[in-house]
Formats: sequence, C-alpha cells, structure tokens
Amino acid sequence: MNQVDYLRISLVDRCNFRCLYCMPEGSDLEYVLQQDLLTQEELTTLLREVFIPVGFTRFRLTGGEPLIRPGVVDIVRTIAQFPETQDLSMTTNAFLLESMAQDLYDAGLRRINISLDSLEPETFDRIIGNRGRSRWQQVWGGIQTAYRIGFNPLKLNVVVIPGINDHEVLDLAALSVDREWHVRFIEFMPIGNGELFNDQGWIDSETIRQQIRKRWGLTEANVRGNGPADVFKIPGAKGTLGFISQMSECFCDRCNRMRLSADGWLRPCLLNEIGQIDLRTQLRSGVSTRELRQQVSELLGLKPEINYKQRQSGTTGKYHRTMSQIGG
Ligand code: GTP
Ligand code: 5AD
Ligand code: SF4
Repeated sequence: MNQVDYLRISLVDRCNFRCLYCMPEGSDLEYVLQQDLLTQEELTTLLREVFIPVGFTRFRLTGGEPLIRPGVVDIVRTIAQFPETQDLSMTTNAFLLESMAQDLYDAGLRRINISLDSLEPETFDRIIGNRGRSRWQQVWGGIQTAYRIGFNPLKLNVVVIPGINDHEVLDLAALSVDREWHVRFIEFMPIGNGELFNDQGWIDSETIRQQIRKRWGLTEANVRGNGPADVFKIPGAKGTLGFISQMSECFCDRCNRMRLSADGWLRPCLLNEIGQIDLRTQLRSGVSTRELRQQVSELLGLKPEINYKQRQSGTTGKYHRTMSQIGG
C-alpha cells in the first residue's frame, strides 16, 4: 500500500482567473467567507500538531490561486522551517509571480508548477476568461523570472482541450527542449465545467504522445515525481514531458495524497466527497489536536477504500466543489 504523506493545502478558494475547464460558465461560485478561511495560525497548528505527527512530510500550496492569499510568503517560510518538511511546492497560474518569486524563494520555496495552457495570447486569454488587456505576457514573464531565480524543477501544466488548444501540443512540448522545463499534459476531466467537457470531449495521453513521437521521437525517462505523471523525454532535450492520465488510466492505487481545503476540510480524494473531516469547526470549538490527530489517523486507514473507482460505482453523485474550490 502507498504511504500517504503528501498534503495539498488550498490557501484560498478564489482565483484571479476563470479558466474554462475549471469554473462553470455563467454561475457565480459561492466563495468561502473570510472568517471561515483557516487562519495562518490555525494552519500552523494543524500542520505541527496533526499532520506532521501522523506522517505528512510533503506539502503543496494550491488555491484557487495561492498567490492572492495575504501572508503567503510567511506561510511558505513557516512550512519550509519545519524540520520534518521534505518537500514544499506550489501550483500557481503565475500571474502575480514575477514580483513575488524572489520573496518566495528566499522564504524556502524551491519548486513551482505553473498552469500554461497556450502560447498564443488570444487563445490563452480565451481559456482564462480574460476580456481585457492580454495577460499572457505577464504570466510568461513570471515563468521566466522563476526560471532565472532557480526554481527547479519548474513544471508547466497544460490541460488539453480539443478544438481549443490541442493544435499547440507540439509547440508546448518544444518548450522542454532547450530549457530544463517539465511540460505536463493533463487529460481534461469532467470536473468544473461539465458542459464544455460534453461539447468538446477529451484527448487521451497516448494520442498526444503519438504526435510528439512522430515529430521528435520519445523515450521513457526513468523518473517519478510525487504526483501521478508518467514521464518521458524528447531525445536530447534538457527537460521532460509528463502525462497525467486520470481519464484513460486509473492511478488511484498509487495515490499518496490528501487535500486540505481553504476552509479547513480534509478531503481524502479529489474525485470523491465521502470521508471528509471538518477540522476548522472542530478546532474552533475546542476539540483537542490529539482528538483531531486520531480522526486523521483513522481516515488514513480508510483511504485505500476511498477513491475514484468507488465514486464510479455510485457512492456519491455530482461534485459539489470545483477544482478551484478543492485546490486542484
Ligand atoms: P508533483 O509531481 O509533485 O509536482 O505534483 P502534481 O503533479 O501532483 O501537482 P500538480 O498540482 O501540478 O497537479 C497537476 C494536475 O494533476 C492537477 O491539477 C490535477 O489535474 C491532476 N492531479 C493531481 N493530483 C491528482 C489526484 O490525486 N487525482 C487526480 N485524479 N488528478 C490529480
Ligand atoms: N481537468 C483537468 N485538470 C484540471 N484542472 C482544473 N480543472 C481541470 C479539469 N477539468 C487543473 C489544471 C490546472 C490546475 C489548477 O487544476 O492542471 O492547472
Ligand atoms: Fe487519489 Fe482520488 Fe485522485 Fe484516485 S482519484 S488518484 S484516489 S485523489
């Protein structure tokens, strides 16, 4: 059985983008009220007294968009300083990264995953739901700055949507050739925007690999990150190509993670809503961290049974939260 030692921590459920694949069109999301967000102090307490003692050593900060959370640099510093922390990373859209990258690095963050779904400003703006001045340049600037500062590995996440950005697969893959950038293609999931999914469908990783193979060849790279990506390499390239294939291949059996939402719910599976624990309400009503530790330990024991396969067999119905609310 896999050891579950990786916690993805959502710092805020809001986002400064409205990506097509993540946010349902038209409907306004119900955001967590300010007073319901875990405070920095509560988060620190939960990490120190609950998560670290039960064996979590790897942490990823997500959102919504983690860089819009006030105090994010301090949160990074706190987590980086726990002696038990073996890995600390962040998933961001990079819109605010250019001005924050150095502070984050100095606070102890060493690796970042950035969403970059297109190299064409127009397509990019369409995907992120931007109607104003293009935001592509600023995101690109953020990526360049992070690379210059020395974030390593630097991973770029591409959700491939047929008819929207699938014509850019080769251009995006080419980013891994000259620089040590790790480009990952993610199969589009019916979470967030089911309508778009029904209209456009999804493309499986093998189809994308075939395109790349035909152009440059592709070899398996013998690496496995913390995550579910299968990693390949264009021969001679400095970086790698990862494929996250949650639609065509079930990787629940090697799942090593749980998720903590911005309002303090611990969620054992991205795609399944059972088993969640409301840590914030309990913490605020005086339940001891010893008791919370016990609950999280029990949930860890149940984790192998709580997965996508189980959801498919009809345990739960529709998703109540989007990716931005759960934290990707
Ligand atoms: P590292 O390999 O440690 O860098 O992490 P990662 O690949 O888990 O991180 P990232 O946040 O970049 O995840 C990329 C995407 O993979 C997510 O946005 C999801 O689309 C998908 N993904 C990550 N974790 C899971 C998971 O547990 N289940 C499923 N079904 N998809 C996941
Ligand atoms: N399908 C696949 N990945 C998604 N993400 C969000 N919504 C979806 C979806 N419907 C992932 C992307 C993005 C991260 C924040 O969440 O990887 O980069
Ligand atoms: Fe883990 Fe659930 Fe994702 Fe499977 S679907 S890999 S169990 S989070």
